[in-house]
Parts: sequence; C-alpha cells; structure tokens
Amino acid sequence: MPVIYVHDKPFQPYISQEEISTRVQEIAHTIEKDYRGKIPLFIAVLNGSFMFASDLFKALNNPAEICFIKLASYKGTRSSGHLITSIGLDVDLIGRDVIVLEDIVDTGKTMTGFLPQLLHQQPASLKVCTLLYKQEATRYPVSIDYRGFIIPDKFVVGYGLDYDGLGRNLSAIYQLAE
Ligand code: IMP
Repeated sequence: MPVIYVHDKPFQPYISQEEISTRVQEIAHTIEKDYRGKIPLFIAVLNGSFMFASDLFKALNNPAEICFIKLASYKGTRSSGHLITSIGLDVDLIGRDVIVLEDIVDTGKTMTGFLPQLLHQQPASLKVCTLLYKQEATRYPVSIDYRGFIIPDKFVVGYGLDYDGLGRNLSAIYQLAE
C-alpha cells in the first residue's frame, strides 16, 4: 500500500476502512445491548469525531439522541493551567444516560478536564467511547468504556483526524511513517 503525504509528512496505511467499519458495528451492538430500554444521549466532540459519530449512530438500531460540541481550552486566571469548556452543549443532561464520543484519547487531558463538567450536570450515567486510544501515552488516566483500537503513541490521520487541518477526509487511518 502506498505512502501518502499530508502537508510535508509521509503516512502509511494503518487501519483499513473495512477494519474500522467492522469495529464500529461491534461497538454499536455492544452499546445496543448495554442500553436496551434506555435512550442514550451521545455527545460527539468536534471536529475529529464527526465520521466516527456518524457511522456509529447509523449502526445503532435502538432509539438514541446525539448532539455535537466543541471543546475550547484556555489558560486559567491563576495557576490552574488550562481549563476546558464546551461550546454548543444545549441539552439538559439531568437524568440522561450520556455517552461521550471521541476520535482519540491521547494523554487523556481533554477528557479529564471535560468529564467533571458533565458530571456536574447530574446525568444518570456517563460513559466514554473513543475510536482510538493511545494507552501508552496516558498522563491523565481516563476510564474508557468503549474503544475501537488501542494504538501506539504515534501520530495518525484520517477518518476525521487531521494533521494541521488536512487528512480528515481519508476513509482509512494512516500512521506517520518513520
Ligand atoms: P488528549 O487531551 O491528549 O487526550 O488529546 C486529545 C486530542 O488530541 C484529540 O481529540 C485530537 O484532537 C488530538 N490528537 C491526539 N493524538 C492525535 C493524533 O495522533 N492525530 C490527530 N489528532 C490527535
């Protein structure tokens, strides 16, 4: 399979479209079983999760809702470091069964900052579903409930993930070639 270039960097094929599709179907079936009789609310984190969210949502046969948010990180006024806030979350979470959809969990910093804010809104339950999980890159431990693939700590693009804005439209996932 040929190496492709995104900006100036070479990437090699890593997870095929077929492998992604199979795994997405499997996750959807697991979620269907786990949420039988409930109406889960998916919160998809833009931009990277849009393809995963779309395919997973289509693969679900049970009733479910979805909304999309963006996360913005900014420096706190004191020594609190980066704070993460959500933009566009206009759904009441009280008593809801919430599943956060991410494209990739890398260090875990984003989710560690964001999940307490969701818990603060008193959902009935809160789970995390990520397509990719760089387990060995974890610096901020996050409990992941559903994951597609555990991958090494190497940069990837495609299927929604970008390198400096490009690469999101690739149907497969490509890994930075050494
Ligand atoms: P974390 O806060 O370190 O877990 O990083 C999560 C975010 O970093 C993801 O939502 C992505 O936007 C970005 N990211 C981390 N690793 C990659 C990668 O390999 N390719 C593209 N984006 C990545």
